[in-house]
Amino acid sequence: MNQTKRKIVVTSALPYANGNIHLGHLVEYLQTDFWVRFQKMRGHACVYVCADDTHGTPIMVRARKEGIAPEELIARSHEAHLRDFTDFEIAFDNYYSTNSPENKAFSEKFYEAMVKSGGITRKSAPQLYCDHCKMFLPDSFVKGVCPKCGAPNQYGDNCDHCGSTYSAAELGSPACTTCGGSPSIKEDEHLYFELEPQHDYLAKWIPEHTTSDVSNKLMEWFSEPLRGWCISRSSPYFGFRIPGTDDKFFYVWVDAPIGYLASLQNWCTAHGESFDDWWQNPAAERYHFIGKDIIRFHCLFWPGMLHVAGFAQPDKIFVHGFLTVNGKKMSKSKGTFVNARTYLKHLPAAALRYYFAAKLSGTTDDMDLNLTDFVHRVNSDLVGKITNLASRGAQMLQKHFEGRMGEMDAEGEAVWKRAVSVADRIAEEYEARDFSKVIVDVRELVDAANEYFDKMSPWSLVKTDPEATRKVLTSILAVFRVLAIYLAPILPAYAQKVATLFGEPAFTWDALQKRIDGGVIGKYEYLATRIDPKAVEALIAESVVPETPAAKPAAPAAEPVKEEIGIDAFSKVDLRVAKILEAAPVEGSDKLIRFLLDVGEAKPRTVFSGIRKAYPEPEKLVGRSVVMVANLAPRKMRFGVSEGMVLAAGNRDGGLFLLSPDSGAMPGSVVS
Ligand code: 2FM
Ligand code: ZN
Repeated sequence: MNQTKRKIVVTSALPYANGNIHLGHLVEYLQTDFWVRFQKMRGHACVYVCADDTHGTPIMVRARKEGIAPEELIARSHEAHLRDFTDFEIAFDNYYSTNSPENKAFSEKFYEAMVKSGGITRKSAPQLYCDHCKMFLPDSFVKGVCPKCGAPNQYGDNCDHCGSTYSAAELGSPACTTCGGSPSIKEDEHLYFELEPQHDYLAKWIPEHTTSDVSNKLMEWFSEPLRGWCISRSSPYFGFRIPGTDDKFFYVWVDAPIGYLASLQNWCTAHGESFDDWWQNPAAERYHFIGKDIIRFHCLFWPGMLHVAGFAQPDKIFVHGFLTVNGKKMSKSKGTFVNARTYLKHLPAAALRYYFAAKLSGTTDDMDLNLTDFVHRVNSDLVGKITNLASRGAQMLQKHFEGRMGEMDAEGEAVWKRAVSVADRIAEEYEARDFSKVIVDVRELVDAANEYFDKMSPWSLVKTDPEATRKVLTSILAVFRVLAIYLAPILPAYAQKVATLFGEPAFTWDALQKRIDGGVIGKYEYLATRIDPKAVEALIAESVVPETPAAKPAAPAAEPVKEEIGIDAFSKVDLRVAKILEAAPVEGSDKLIRFLLDVGEAKPRTVFSGIRKAYPEPEKLVGRSVVMVANLAPRKMRFGVSEGMVLAAGNRDGGLFLLSPDSGAMPGSVVS
């Protein structure tokens, strides 16, 4: 180790307790885990803390719906989340909860300091209140008509249709998304954290602690006074009560980032460490990994809070982009919104870790999981090239030489030396979170190793020169071992099996320098298997969630009701039950179906109906009962005479649906 030992605190954003961990989340937790494991392998003291983000309205409402206490809901999520993370080999040093005594104490301490700094103001504003649910409605709990463009079904903060932003109280015909009731408007007083006093401080801090794309975006707000941030929510709310108030709670986004400190504190207590040695120590380093959707909270409000409360700032905020699947936004109805647990039912965690590493380069660009490319890269590179080196080399060495290695031959040693020589470059790539470059380097090295292996053809050489063969196998295994060390932060369980194969403890970065000539390998255990594309198909099929009516776009307005008629006019229409005897497409028309209908008369009737688009296989309708207008004057059509009309409901979006009586109705029954 040629550098001094660093002390590093690392966090990933805290997942909400009311949702499952999905592949989008994993983009963040995996890259953080790669980075933390790398730092630990380098011998640094690194603590990776996280927690469930447990407070807020959605959690309260969900617990109410399930008829349980929020505490029960968050305990259940905590267990499920931690299991998902563990099975994806994500190794937190502490995975805590924001609903903890440490977090309450820290939140109150922050608030006290915010008040003391003069940064807390009170303002009253009209808010939507649902009398039925007995709560003020957050923006995501109310839908109504956009005040700017009139689009229906828009949430309380901005319009999906025209993009304008507004306050929920401005929505037309607002409705509570929980109960469907119409909320009323109530004046409510709230507490605000004023950021303008920190205008200059933050304007300087942000560019120094974020990348330029992030800070440029944030700097757009600095051309005018910074607006205060509403930090309170009214009762009922699941969270921490704000000291000195009866019915106000900290908004979830206040105590969520404070939860990083609470988790660290909790870890320090458990490990006999001092919080100040980690968080307040100028020689220690602190990093937050976050997604680009929560920049405002981490790069503006959070440093503002830390500053007034006298806490150290993070050294850098690492921001990543979103995950797309096959080039598109993840979609529940397409099955590309995949939960971590569902993935694990079909595929190994290591495959996703390897693929994500190959795609992550430390920028805010979105990252695509292309499922075909995923299968290809895992099968061809990780299994076919990298793992294959070990399985061929180790198994031959076992078979012919009882697992005893010898020396390397000159050519093999050159390949090994080349592999070791890029250690510093790969370390820099890890440090810069450019994991994709690590994978490129590893692939180059594995290609060189495979070329050497094939050229030496140990499988034929062994027949004539066993000692030379032993040298080839020794070289191959030495190179493979180096590659496994390079991949250890990305594939920890894999690397551990490799360390065991060589009879070594868990790999450190220093282990790169070790020579293994003359050593003995243990039993070869399988390291990775090929992915069957069918497993990916099954995963997607299992992830499909049919669209719920609520998730569909607003239904088109109904047809206007026709002019009123009396019962006499209505009774002139002779509606009858008819049984379909025959149904066939009409040759020469792509719209019409020719029906032969039993209406209880001596002779079946022929009726043409333009519903073929909705029923492309009309023969399947045979045997079904429908409703027909039996006294419609016969109409002569190009294909024949139509002796009535079958009834179908027509949606404005083009959908057509035949009307049928309940079973038991006989052909010819009068419909009235
Ligand atoms: O966006 C989210 O999922 C939040 N639960 C992240 C919180 S991160 C931090 F501030 F706690
Ligand atoms: Zn309601």
